[in-house]
Amino acid sequence: MKTHTTIQSLQSTIDSWRSQGQRIAFVPTMGGLHDGHLSLVDFAKQKADKIVVSVFVNPTQFGKNEDFDQYPNKLEQDIALLEQHQIDGLYSPSVEQIYPQGLDSDIKVSEVGDILCGASRPGHFDGVVQVVHRLFEIVKPSIAIFGQKDYQQLLLITQMATQYFPEIELLSQPTIREQDGLAMSTRNQYLSIDERKIVPRLYQVLLQAKQDYLDNALVEVLTNRAKNTLSEDFKVDYFEALDANTLKQITDNTSKIAILCSVYLGSTRLIDNIIFNKG
Ligand code: PAJ
Repeated sequence: MKTHTTIQSLQSTIDSWRSQGQRIAFVPTMGGLHDGHLSLVDFAKQKADKIVVSVFVNPTQFGKNEDFDQYPNKLEQDIALLEQHQIDGLYSPSVEQIYPQGLDSDIKVSEVGDILCGASRPGHFDGVVQVVHRLFEIVKPSIAIFGQKDYQQLLLITQMATQYFPEIELLSQPTIREQDGLAMSTRNQYLSIDERKIVPRLYQVLLQAKQDYLDNALVEVLTNRAKNTLSEDFKVDYFEALDANTLKQITDNTSKIAILCSVYLGSTRLIDNIIFNKG
């Protein structure tokens, strides 16, 4: 596995693979890799001939008072993990490589970017879509793979890719969890030992809400119940049950449900979701 820090080096390698007719799968990340990221890598290996992973902590998707400066930088550890998983190329660029013309962007997300995480993190999804657009432009993969853990992000990236990169096949993979149900996340490292004991309750509440839904509870009733339970341990940012395809209200035409939530424990923000067929 070669680590590329420049566009030229990465593209000359990718061009030579492509000229041999090889298909390239791409997994963008911000590093601090865990088994969730690695599940995407392993899935990518089943789908393409060459796997490229990027590790880039994208400044434009962090708000002013967010954790950009603290975000775990573990490049050496990430390289060791990616070597073990036998990927073909790592792209670890500087901010200047990604944004030679500065951080402003013309690409704006749809109104789906204004709700849920977008309401609490204004501009966040514009930054996400901006960097993924730029990375797609550089890597030009045949396939790109994202996690359902960041479900709203997945939807907005899919919208962007449909518009600008219809030739790229987007695939997604389910959330990988710790044994106690906690969704794996690079930010879990921020949790204290005591906080770590509390956070699996989030998934328990999601499971209960799904069960309530399947037992025909009204959406308002099940979300209120969940918020009440969660507020014993967390500061609830949002908890909603929506149409998974549109992230709008559930209607008679809804086929798939997304129950999505975000909570704070101390200064750590956690997100999680459950997606299931309406049945
Ligand atoms: P990051 O949080 O590093 O996540 C990279 C990819 O891993 C995303 O597609 C995310 O959904 C997926 N992922 C994270 N935790 C997961 C888990 N527990 N199970 C399965 N997949 C998981 O998401 C980002 O980076 C950035 O916003 C990025 C898309 C790279 C743009 O900067």
